[in-house]
Amino acid sequence: MEIKKVGVIGCGLMGHGIVQVAAQAGCEVIALEGDQGALDKGLARIENSLGKMGARAVKKGKQTEAEAAAFAKQTLGRISGSLKQADLADCDLIVEAIIEDLEIKKKLFAELGAICKPETILASNTSSFPIAEMAAASGRPGRFVGLHFFNPVQLMRLVEVVSTDATEADVFASAKAFGKAVGKAPVSCKDTPGFVVNRLLVPFMAQSLLMLDRGDASAEDIDTAMMYGCGHPMGPITLTDYVGLDTTLSILEGWVERYPNEPAFIIPKVLKTKVAEGKLGRKSGEGFFKWEGDQKV
Ligand code: 3HC
Repeated sequence: MEIKKVGVIGCGLMGHGIVQVAAQAGCEVIALEGDQGALDKGLARIENSLGKMGARAVKKGKQTEAEAAAFAKQTLGRISGSLKQADLADCDLIVEAIIEDLEIKKKLFAELGAICKPETILASNTSSFPIAEMAAASGRPGRFVGLHFFNPVQLMRLVEVVSTDATEADVFASAKAFGKAVGKAPVSCKDTPGFVVNRLLVPFMAQSLLMLDRGDASAEDIDTAMMYGCGHPMGPITLTDYVGLDTTLSILEGWVERYPNEPAFIIPKVLKTKVAEGKLGRKSGEGFFKWEGDQKV
């Protein structure tokens, strides 16, 4: 099935990027939010990102200023905002990118399952919850996949496409084709904790924070070590700030509860303390480092 009309629920950190890449690929996109303020903020973020990408393309000689402006205008023209779930009923694909709370997601998918056309493919961008539980809640597990994008969605080239035992083959193929159409390399994943990337990345980030707990090295030195020793674009502590300390903690807490015998799932003390202090990383202006907007200061 070719995906032409896409609904994205949640226009925050991940959702706004998903809206943008889908619109850039020529899809008609509806961005759904809970209130007008959040919607306006998400749409402004998309405009800002398109401005940055346009300026970059002009600087590199890939587009003229007029071409960059026209591309941004066309992309924005394919996006509409909505506060009403019913507006998504005839979408070919709906991608959920809301808060990481399994019960809220299940409730949302139960509602979507009841209102969408029978062919609609439902997808979750969850980082860590079992896709099968949300698929069951939707009442249409055959038409359900995980579509896990990476932050910042506009720049990161991967999407994980996650199947459950119930996912129908044509649904999975359509979801993979969509991933390709939005400019990503889609990888097939089974419905396991953290799929491929987070199963490796989150324990790696946790280990770097356990080094802080023990006083093995400073945050700056851990990051420098991994950037210059392993060629990572960001060190693990900066990456934790970038992803969000609350997000990282909530992934680990969920896993520790669900998989108590997995030794790689462990919660560093410093992570809990910082979150309790409201230091959530880039999004709150401070985590392990201080931030001004997207820039570490
Ligand atoms: N939209 C458009 N353009 C953007 C952008 C955005 N959202 N963010 C950055 N850019 C542009 C910048 O304007 C800049 O353009 P310029 O070169 O013309 O100045 C360019 O991209 C490079 O950005 P920066 O100069 O700010 O910095 P970097 O060169 O370090 O690149 C990065 C930024 C791509 C984020 C890079 O540091 C990186 O790859 N970091 C690792 C990110 C990562 O690992 N993400 C995965 C997180 S895990 C996850 O998401 C899973 C979840 O489930 C937890």
